[in-house]
Amino acid sequence: MSIICIASYKGGIGKTTTAIHVAAYLQTLAPTILADGDIVRASSKWAARGGGKGLLFTVVPIGQLAMHSRQFEHIVIDTEANPSDEDFKDAAKGCNMLITRRNRRRPPRTDSPTPSAS
Ligand SMILES: Nc1ncnc2c1ncn2[C@@H]1O[C@H](COP(=O)(O)OP(=O)(O)OP(=O)(O)O)[C@@H](O)[C@H]1O
Ligand SMILES: [Mg+2]
Repeated sequence: MSIICIASYKGGIGKTTTAIHVAAYLQTLAPTILADGDIVRASSKWAARGGGKGLLFTVVPIGQLAMHSRQFEHIVIDTEANPSDEDFKDAAKGCNMLITRRNRRRPPRTDSPTPSAS
């Protein structure tokens, strides 16, 4: 069984989109469940579209994961934005693979004059 968690301190950076795409791929390999760990339930709302038949894998609220997990080979966990440090560490320890994104520093501008050394 593989457990893949998508987590980030920053919101709106594609966690749910990534979770859905990763789960869709893994479902082509073996039965896959996506656990929706975000209170806004974005993954669950995607799953409900098309009369609940739009996605080929199972989506459940994370609170129901324990009930279902034995039936699945792969578990993908979508998480909410702005987790506490403890929640983030727990999420990282509780999976085989963590998919995250760190904030990149903005590269230095090259079109502005550099200050002269005087
Ligand atoms: N690779 C991408 N390229 C362009 N737009 C993207 C990409 N991935 C996600 N988006 C868009 O960015 C927005 C946020 O994506 P998503 O809801 O997946 O982020 P999120 O990290 O789950 O947000 P939240 O923190 O609110 O849960 C959506 O409108 C989505 O369509
Ligand atoms: Mg999301």
